[in-house]
Amino acid sequence: MRAQIKTTQLELLQGDITRQDTAAIVNAANSSLLGGGGVDGAIHRAAGPELLAETRQLGGCATGDARITKGYRLRAQYVIHAVGPIYQSDDPNVPQLLASAYRRSLELAREHGIRSIAFPSISTGAYGYPLEEAAPIALGTVCDFISQFAAFDLVRFVLFNESIYSVYADALRKLLHEYKTSATLE
Ligand code: APR
Repeated sequence: MRAQIKTTQLELLQGDITRQDTAAIVNAANSSLLGGGGVDGAIHRAAGPELLAETRQLGGCATGDARITKGYRLRAQYVIHAVGPIYQSDDPNVPQLLASAYRRSLELAREHGIRSIAFPSISTGAYGYPLEEAAPIALGTVCDFISQFAAFDLVRFVLFNESIYSVYADALRKLLHEYKTSATLE
């Protein structure tokens, strides 16, 4: 599914974040930045050991923030390590920490002149964020940013399976009415 928001293509696809050819891919990291499972494990495996050698130097990253490294053996030139929140339904900070993880990733990419970036669905795996709550936050944050700054040619969400994809596609359809843009279904 694609949508044009001002000068930026917003794209949803089903796939593996480590295979993306965007200039940057975003890692769903933890605050230690020392690797893990899921997206984190897949990106470190695909990038090779130099990635961990670089992230070790960074001294960690706060929840809601992000750090940038090289991509090493990945097709992407950069990895942006974003730390999403662990889901807690009674914590009012959790939605804005999730939004912040996306926004800080976009800010870092923009600072580095990166024009194409791919996101996974941050916090919706091991961190337990319900997809139906996370997708509108993720897409809303990205749409707000690309409506404000003409910084990107392409922002892609790479969703690991059909059910995750369909939650994001439904959320994007609902959101696009607000942005009055046409979404071309692929
Ligand atoms: N490509 C794209 N999406 C993927 C991939 C992949 N290769 N592998 C998993 N996913 C999806 C999951 O299905 C989920 O929808 O990414 C989303 C995020 O899941 P996690 O990787 O578990 O990330 P998160 O929920 O943010 O938890 C982060 O898990 O791996 C550890 O070190 C990481 O402690 C951190 C925590």
